Amino acid sequence: MSGERVTVYEVGPRDGLQNEPATLAAADKVRFVELLADAGLPAVEVTSFVSPAAIPKLADADTVLPAVRRRPGVRYPVLVPNLRGLARATAAGAREIAVFAAASEGFSQANIGRSISDSLDGYAAVVKQAQAAGMWVRGYVSTAFGCPYEGRVEPQAVVAVAAELRRMGCDEVSIGDTIGVAEPAQVAALVPLVAARVALDRIALHLHDTGGRALENVAAGLAAGVRVFDGSAAGLGGCPFAPGAPGNLATEALVAFLEREGFSTGVDESLLAAAAAFVRERLAAAA
Ligand code: COA
Ligand code: ZN
Repeated sequence: MSGERVTVYEVGPRDGLQNEPATLAAADKVRFVELLADAGLPAVEVTSFVSPAAIPKLADADTVLPAVRRRPGVRYPVLVPNLRGLARATAAGAREIAVFAAASEGFSQANIGRSISDSLDGYAAVVKQAQAAGMWVRGYVSTAFGCPYEGRVEPQAVVAVAAELRRMGCDEVSIGDTIGVAEPAQVAALVPLVAARVALDRIALHLHDTGGRALENVAAGLAAGVRVFDGSAAGLGGCPFAPGAPGNLATEALVAFLEREGFSTGVDESLLAAAAAFVRERLAAAA
């Protein structure tokens, strides 16, 4: 007997490795991605085609993505900030991309150097071109539960950005607690507001465990009908533009929690543990 399906979207190779002090060799990144897909994860975010000056740890994206041995049925999205990033991702063989907006102006400026509105204008062109090429597209809404620069973020600001990402054609919208400050009541209140504009089955939650409440927030998301959750194997990383934001929700903890709650993830927990052990060992060796 298996329970209702929940999709676990792995962000360790991207959101995790971009913010680890040690730098992995490209071949180790490739191996990490392959181990994660072999563990049964249906989506593994591989890297970012952003400015290498902004994110030096992922400057080898053009080498890493084409080297990944792909499993049929698995998505391998990559972050794309602009048309130049889309051209690089396309040349490297990307079939899925993610664009990333924020719900607070302070974070938008710090992370991508432009206002929320300007960023959405740029993404509209990226998404249009990606869809014309048959790509699957995810849109992120960062700082949805709190901003390192502005503090409180209005739910309506999150809803507006999520709705716009969906309107321009994003297949899935991931609502991010970039700095790990969300509380379950906030999740319970926000999801229905977003779901009024973006169908529930297109909403994902991207939770960080900085405040120690990520799994409670997953439970609140599940109760509100969300069935896609992001996790970072080995709990790697955070966001370099969100000071004091370590602690992505570990995929191992997420999968164990979901299975314990009676959901089915399709993930082999021992193979996932092996992937996490591999990356921990490689990071230690590179330190
Ligand atoms: N790939 C490679 N290089 C890129 C690029 C891309 N997709 N987009 C811009 N660049 C380069 C430009 O060539 C330029 O290089 P130069 O200084 O050597 O001439 C430099 O980046 C600045 O370009 P510009 O167009 O002025 O952009 P910007 O300075 O406004 O930066 C972003 C905008 C979005 C490209 C940059 O802030 C970025 O990549 N941010 C990534 C943030 C991120 O990934 N955060 C983690 C996720 S939460
Ligand atoms: Zn994150």
